[in-house]
Amino acid sequence: MYPTAARPDVLALRSSQIREVANAAIGQADVLPFWFGESDLPTPLFIREAAAQAVLAGETFYTHNLGRADLREALSAYLGRLHGRAIGTERLAITNSGVSALMLAAQAVISPGDRVVVVDPVWPNVAEIPRIMSARVQTVALCAESGRWTLDLDRLMAALTPDTRALFLNSPNNPTGWTLPAEHRAPILDHCRRHGIWLIADDVYERLSFTADKAPSFLEIAALDDRLISTNSFSKAWRMTGWRLGWIVAPPELIAPLGVLLEYNTSCAPDFIQTAAASALEHGEIAVSELRAELRAARDQVIGGLTTLSGPSGSGIEAPVPDGGMYAFFRIAGCTDAVAMANDLIERAGLGLAPGSAFGEDGQGWLRWCFAARPEKNAEGLRRLAAYLSHR
Ligand SMILES: Cc1ncc(COP(=O)(O)O)c(C=O)c1O
Repeated sequence: MYPTAARPDVLALRSSQIREVANAAIGQADVLPFWFGESDLPTPLFIREAAAQAVLAGETFYTHNLGRADLREALSAYLGRLHGRAIGTERLAITNSGVSALMLAAQAVISPGDRVVVVDPVWPNVAEIPRIMSARVQTVALCAESGRWTLDLDRLMAALTPDTRALFLNSPNNPTGWTLPAEHRAPILDHCRRHGIWLIADDVYERLSFTADKAPSFLEIAALDDRLISTNSFSKAWRMTGWRLGWIVAPPELIAPLGVLLEYNTSCAPDFIQTAAASALEHGEIAVSELRAELRAARDQVIGGLTTLSGPSGSGIEAPVPDGGMYAFFRIAGCTDAVAMANDLIERAGLGLAPGSAFGEDGQGWLRWCFAARPEKNAEGLRRLAAYLSHR
């Protein structure tokens, strides 16, 4: 008999510790969940109605590998408005989610043994996807300094050696909310250009910035033939996590190969969902601004609450202020095992958080709270945490 095991690089993948913690407690009525990264409200009604009408109209067929022409036109117009420069359809591919966009980007440019640099802590998929391609992944850690997350540019440059194939950079970052400062874009892009390093920018939170209506993007400064791939998604800004639709902006030369890869991964995105997505792009600005305002208020509520908890009584909470995204990434003094603390919080306080170690070794000891929730729910979560800390 031959062994039935998967190949070694697949066996070596870490399973998601967010899932490990959540799966054990999911559905328990007395646990208040903040572990997953999504809004607790459904998709805006006008987008749901567009999908419903499209289904009724019979939009149930296969579509072009790269996405329907009308959606790619709508996306090109949206990106042009957002970034203030033309981004033509020859640079666009529609994908079946943001995570699928990352996988396709990796399949397109990464070969076994390639050296890849990932800035972390980061959503686990960003580091595991290159590992599926049998890449060697090196991480560069963000640091929490004076209440904010920062990226040490010199350390990043030192890690981006000439033999590096790709840099994966997620800004605004999940889980920390760190957002790439506009003035850091040119030095990073120049360095990648000099050494032929692919820059894979995971931009799924770009509309969820707390300082502007969008975070700084490499798309605003890159040339058409730069080795830049921007991956994005409808999930976060339009509250469409369950729809599984995303996109890629890439150099024109890469789009046809991406179409071939799309054929062999998922073939195409669902027909009627593309109609709903076009509607989101064309009519969704108000909904996006509302979500951004809600998240900014929720950020202030949760970070403010955590900071108060860390007050003179000295429970020692460190809660850097996120500049974007939908998460508070914080630590409680003395926590060295985030999974153990996340499990303890579930058992003894009914509070469901994601363990920071899920986001790489550099997240060990930290906890992630998705604050994309109603204010009452965040307030109840803070009450439960306060009660837990007072009994420690
Ligand atoms: C950093 C980051 N990239 C990509 C995604 C993927 O989003 P989706 O696959 O829902 O489009 C997520 C989802 O949490 C994320 O946090």
